[in-house]
Amino acid sequence: MCGIVGYIGKREAYPIIIKGLKRLEYRGYDSAGVALLNGGLKVFKKKGKVSELEGSVSADATKSNLGIGHTRWATHGEPNDINAHPHVSQNGKLAIIHNGIIENYQSLKTELEQKGHKFKSQTDSEVVIHLVEEILLNNSCSLEEAVRLALNEIIGAYAICVISEDDKSQLIAARKGSPLVIGIGDGEFFVASDATPIIEYTNNVVYLDDYEIAIIRDGELIVKSIEDVIKTPFIHKLEMELESIEKGGFPHFMLKEIYEQPKSIRDCLRGRLIATDSHLNLNGMLQFMNKFTNAERLIFVACGTSWHAGLVAEYLFEDIARVNVEVEYASEFRYRNPVIRENDIVVAISQSGETADTLAAIEMAKSKGATIFGVCNVVGSSISRASHAGAYIHAGPEIGVASTKAFTGQVTVLTMMALILGLKKGTLTENRFRELIFALDQIPNKIQKILDDTSSVKKIAETFQFAKNFLYLGRGYNFPVALEGALKLKEISYIHAEGYPAAEMKHGPIALIDEDMPVVFIAPKDSTYEKIISNIQEVKARKGKVIAIVTEGEKDIFNMSDYVVEIPATEECLQPLLSSIPLQLLSYYVAINRGCNVDQPRNLAKSVTVE
Ligand code: AGP
Ligand code: GLU
Repeated sequence: MCGIVGYIGKREAYPIIIKGLKRLEYRGYDSAGVALLNGGLKVFKKKGKVSELEGSVSADATKSNLGIGHTRWATHGEPNDINAHPHVSQNGKLAIIHNGIIENYQSLKTELEQKGHKFKSQTDSEVVIHLVEEILLNNSCSLEEAVRLALNEIIGAYAICVISEDDKSQLIAARKGSPLVIGIGDGEFFVASDATPIIEYTNNVVYLDDYEIAIIRDGELIVKSIEDVIKTPFIHKLEMELESIEKGGFPHFMLKEIYEQPKSIRDCLRGRLIATDSHLNLNGMLQFMNKFTNAERLIFVACGTSWHAGLVAEYLFEDIARVNVEVEYASEFRYRNPVIRENDIVVAISQSGETADTLAAIEMAKSKGATIFGVCNVVGSSISRASHAGAYIHAGPEIGVASTKAFTGQVTVLTMMALILGLKKGTLTENRFRELIFALDQIPNKIQKILDDTSSVKKIAETFQFAKNFLYLGRGYNFPVALEGALKLKEISYIHAEGYPAAEMKHGPIALIDEDMPVVFIAPKDSTYEKIISNIQEVKARKGKVIAIVTEGEKDIFNMSDYVVEIPATEECLQPLLSSIPLQLLSYYVAINRGCNVDQPRNLAKSVTVE
């Protein structure tokens, strides 16, 4: 949610901030704004995309070496020019950008109003800068101290940057619950919600921790806790390539990321799986192998697409490693009173590693003694740092809001985990293990084959672009794929879609079927093949339009369906890695035909750092 960029140094801050905001725009795009210090404090903000903001910034203001910028995903107050960040204090000298939610903003606002503060926006964020101002007025303290005291009064989640007209060589940043990275250049500093705006300037970064404040002043970075204790910042080396966050000739990030999957899965397997040597290893699992083999239960917590990867994991771990599995929506799990035992392993699955509910769920499970294993994409993210151990999916930056390569990366890591555990526990024979890792090693080539000919998917997308509803049905390993296919379609094309276990259809959704209803069957040849044929017949009998994802060379479903997409054969437990690809492409092409903005669908944000 929301992107933050700040710069302080020798260069002009404005172009760095604008470029950074464009890189972060996937996080939120309701409105954008910048505050720059040139002479006095100058603030420009606009509803809509960063490109709309650019036209409204006066040339003289851009000659500043200090500035902050924000691209918003509104929580409090509609997206408009006034609610856009930065927000300024009553005297117009202080500016703030904020990512997160201030939960006690209403009571703070009432108190401040009684003291004469007038608020311009409906946001929770504006309260913080008025509070800082009020503290400065009443105490003869520094800005840094005033921010620290203000944060002690705040309940909620935040990543903030504050600048003041009275001190042009200072930028203050702080975080609790929302991510913040500080890039350290030569006499210059960059602050951002993630590393993407920073990598073209420096590889040296500090990830701010919760309850930490960074004071960047006179070319120096000081990190303190909000209790005023000095901390020693740890400087990480970024390994990201600049080209990995650019479109590389594709019209959209989403399409680029779909096409990257052969490579992203190879990267995920690299050094971990060597099929010819029957070698499979995940370093993160090694130190916890006893915990894994003795675990009574694995609990997967996640949201959205990552939750669907968790559902695939349920099939994998039960099937291969014979262990009890629960798959939980992080947002529900954290507010229940779940039974968690010390020999439970909680596996958090998250592309961003910043999803607020997932992070809170693992903190809760950790406090009850569970071991936490993180499956994340973003290196150094909050969830990866809060976990006892983990395995990165190494998919590279995923910018499109609709998750694609992260899903297949998650499923790849979860498959490797289940295979390692199955072998260790003896629930998988060495022969079967060898067969499965050979098949897994072939997946990137098979995905490439699907991507090499997308003509049938394009035709289906054109035919059904005006549909009002879609049904996605699958069984076994392909039930989570049906849910994922439906989510992909609704989030980027705004067509209502439902995913169901195919057999469950007759318990309700079948009532929706008529000649206008496209029904996507994920029906590769597997142990449920005969059963799904009956489900297809049930839909056909009611004149539904059958679109089937089938194994190449298969004849029965091919002949009974209205439209077919063929995918290569693979082991049943690996099918989601192939069957999800045509569904990603289908949602992409339907959305394109409908003129939708696939990389930045309405109301969504890539990284959901508010609960
Ligand atoms: C996926 O297409 C979605 N945009 C969304 O459901 C996403 O998977 C969810 O917000 C979880 O994000 P995470 O993996 O970064 O935790
Ligand atoms: N809660 C703040 C707002 O609504 C910040 C939202 C965000 O993180 O973009 O403006």
